[in-house]
Amino acid sequence: MIKRRLPKPGTIEVNPSILAADFAQLADELAVVEQAGVKMVHLDIMDGHFVPNITIGPPVVEKLRKHSNLFFDAHLMITDPRKYAPAFVKAGVNHITFHIEVEKKPAEFIRILHSMGVTAGVCLNPETPVRAIKKVAPLCDMILVMTVHPGFGGQKFIASAAKKIRTIRNIVGPKIRVEVDGGIDAKTTPIVVGYGADTLVAGRAIFGEKNRIAAINAIRRACK
Ligand code: DX5
Ligand code: ZN
Repeated sequence: MIKRRLPKPGTIEVNPSILAADFAQLADELAVVEQAGVKMVHLDIMDGHFVPNITIGPPVVEKLRKHSNLFFDAHLMITDPRKYAPAFVKAGVNHITFHIEVEKKPAEFIRILHSMGVTAGVCLNPETPVRAIKKVAPLCDMILVMTVHPGFGGQKFIASAAKKIRTIRNIVGPKIRVEVDGGIDAKTTPIVVGYGADTLVAGRAIFGEKNRIAAINAIRRACK
């Protein structure tokens, strides 16, 4: 079995969110971004309860796994991540992000996820303060900062939420990935990279463009 690992901190990774992809052609969409040299892909899992939208579940992830060697970064926007995490791990995800807003014992849950063989981390909504994740932060492999209200792609970047990236980077140092999600494109990339983000989720800015590879390269250029 191929062991897919979260890229070691120290590089900036563009992480395409398939939420904006053509859901009827997902395997082909993954192949195209893999061709662009990305290492990971962001899977937005929504339950219609934690967020007012529904996307994909474990059966779809399991099928996608057979078509792609990319690292699967699952963003669980669901009310009960403890209940569904095992099914997503079994389906083949490599990293699980859960929302701090729904988990009372995040440190315990991170340990459980590690014992299942995946890397793990917490996510904060735009209005959630950094202090909510301070204790669990050192246990995470990657921390996700939302720069839109979760639920939909193509929303406007919330600049005030992005500022939390700098505070989090100062807390965790260089050894933990800091991921940012929502409204990331070639214009907002320099802002979040400047704050210390190293994992850039982008949906519309990649899959909303005809040439996905050129779109990924435009974000890469904006990092410099
Ligand atoms: C929003 C999702 C995001 C979304 C980002 O709830 O978590 O991953 O796909 O989409 P864009 O890049 O279009 O803002
Ligand atoms: Zn996401």
